[in-house]
Amino acid sequence: MSQGWIDDLRAIVGEGSLLLEPSDLEPYSRDETASGVVARLPAAVAKPASEAQVAEVVRFCADRGIPVTARGGGTGLAGACVPSPGGIVLSLERLDRILWIDVHNHTITVQAGVPMGALFAEAKKAGLFFPPHPGDEGAFAGGVVATNAGGARAVKYGTVKRFLTGMRVVLADGTALDLGGRLLKSSTGYHLMDLMIGSEGTLGIITQVTFSLLANPACLRTLVVPFETIDQATAAVEQLLNRGITPCAVEFVEHAAIRCSERLLAKTWPARGGNASLMFILDGSDEEEVMGAAASVASVMEANGALDVLVAEGEAKQAEILEIRSMIYEALRPGAVELFDVSLPRSEIPDHVRRVHELEREHGIPLPTYGHAADGNVHTQSMRVSIDDGVLGGEIKGWEEKHERVRAGIYADAIARGGVISGEHGIGLVKKDFLAMNVGERAVRVMKAIKRALDPKGILNPGKIFDLDGPVTPPRA
Ligand code: LAC
Ligand code: ZN
Repeated sequence: MSQGWIDDLRAIVGEGSLLLEPSDLEPYSRDETASGVVARLPAAVAKPASEAQVAEVVRFCADRGIPVTARGGGTGLAGACVPSPGGIVLSLERLDRILWIDVHNHTITVQAGVPMGALFAEAKKAGLFFPPHPGDEGAFAGGVVATNAGGARAVKYGTVKRFLTGMRVVLADGTALDLGGRLLKSSTGYHLMDLMIGSEGTLGIITQVTFSLLANPACLRTLVVPFETIDQATAAVEQLLNRGITPCAVEFVEHAAIRCSERLLAKTWPARGGNASLMFILDGSDEEEVMGAAASVASVMEANGALDVLVAEGEAKQAEILEIRSMIYEALRPGAVELFDVSLPRSEIPDHVRRVHELEREHGIPLPTYGHAADGNVHTQSMRVSIDDGVLGGEIKGWEEKHERVRAGIYADAIARGGVISGEHGIGLVKKDFLAMNVGERAVRVMKAIKRALDPKGILNPGKIFDLDGPVTPPRA
């Protein structure tokens, strides 16, 4: 960057809010993607303090043709906020104000840089509840919209998009749009807000969001149910849903993966026997309702081969179980190549997971698998090291090639089952080569036409989701 440009940017965001030193830029070079190889230093990091400053930074970039990558909490798992070549990072971290809880209409309006943990706490204080729960509470409100994040509670409540009612967004020419509002219904023209959901910073920079909220469930129960096999565990879920019982979360975990998380946290998963568990979170407005649901879950599970049904007593124990589940990704990450995030019609999970383990045997790399059983979202982590009783071991010879074959196999299987390659993490950099194979070339062409219409100079996070000028031909699978 020339001194003139630096001075101009500094004049917009203020001294101290423009980072240029490599050591300061490094944390902004990556997200939490497993391999750690998708990283690039930005030319600068600008931290605007207001939407007006966001717009000015975008105008600065548009005038000079500089790529600009918006960054939220940096908790993404697909490289979407990794800076584009020659570009700057626009960090939303200073737009961190909770603006308004509307207790009459059950909405919360926040700036894009508010971490989800803070949003959950604020809603709770008002006796309200934001249902989607992306695994990492450090994710920002703007970022969870930009990726349409999901999380464990999607089975009952859906993903982030279901609760988004309003948004402010800065477009590629530096103008701002105010979309939606505190409304549950609107049939008023194109749903431009929906276009921004999952756009990963390529169509606009979200500066403010309004979410709808629900009344806080008064009562929660967590159950852990071990099974001899993962197959039995995932198959039992359908039986439960057929009974009309919809838990807030139904997670499935293989014990080989749970052991890693137990070691990382020095905490113990309640189930010892068997090779896999289901974890249920039940919520409701009173004890009686939740206990009734728990009894139904127990009886369906027992009838479907459960080895045991363990009920967690007290909030601390429930939080501990959720923490062990939530930290699987981190526990495996040091030895992982890639985290898959396929989303399937949920009845396909048992067969897909069976296919994953066939691939594991065929190619000889561990493929610990877990995920959100009742909404169809499966996470397999392909490993470059062995795993022995929760300890990551030595590197596996030829893991690079094995991983490529596993990846092609997992995607081919998911797509053949009517699935998609990302359920909640996004496409970013790491999955873009497989987008056309999944959604079809025509759909990618439409996406590119929209991109060109909204960002004619191609400055907003270029090279994410797809390469604008690259071929749409699917890669070898
Ligand atoms: C999870 C994250 C990786 O489900 O999505 O743990
Ligand atoms: Zn997940």
